[in-house]
Amino acid sequence: MKFIRQKNILEMESEYTEKVMEHFNNPKNVGEIRDADGRARAGDPSCGDFILVWIKVKDDTVADFKYKVFGCAAAIATTSVVSDLAIGKTFEQAARLTDDDVVTYLGGLPEGKKHCSFLGIKGLQAAIDDYRIRENYKRFEQRNKLYRKMGYDIPKSCKDIACRLDDLSENANVLEIGSGKGNLAIALAVAGIPLTSIDRSGEEQKCAILNARYL
Ligand code: FES
Repeated sequence: MKFIRQKNILEMESEYTEKVMEHFNNPKNVGEIRDADGRARAGDPSCGDFILVWIKVKDDTVADFKYKVFGCAAAIATTSVVSDLAIGKTFEQAARLTDDDVVTYLGGLPEGKKHCSFLGIKGLQAAIDDYRIRENYKRFEQRNKLYRKMGYDIPKSCKDIACRLDDLSENANVLEIGSGKGNLAIALAVAGIPLTSIDRSGEEQKCAILNARYL
């Protein structure tokens, strides 16, 4: 495998492939999307490098991916590659992208820099996750709005229940059977009341979890 040795101060002791240097010197898709559908920040606390990611989504496909990265040459190059690989991928395809794909695409990374390949991938997955949470919450609000028009204010009823549970002892834990879309779970979480919630429908549980994560 061919590596080139950089002689500048920043990369003096590093060994990178030509492909890495190409992406480091001319990173693709750098920037920010103002009306992004999903956003994320991902970082590696061990070295302090981090990225900010914005995505546009069309029909469950990553239509655009922009980022800003603060980090080493490998962090910049790997994020540039992820942006290239991600654009045009469906969520399913994007979920299958791994850090190994990034390393392979770049023709290898020095051992001590392999962890850098996680950054872009983590950022991509987190931005998709953020998009899903926002979309789910939008649907949740639309649904509640519809019920309100029919005379049922579900969030308000759940808040009233939470108020009535205010006197519970500190160690109490409420068991909810039938989470639904998570209205009660959210009201209790906002009131700081511990809750265990179960539902026979996996879909409803997923929806409730996404709604709780929106908070
Ligand atoms: Fe940690 Fe590059 S050294 S991401």
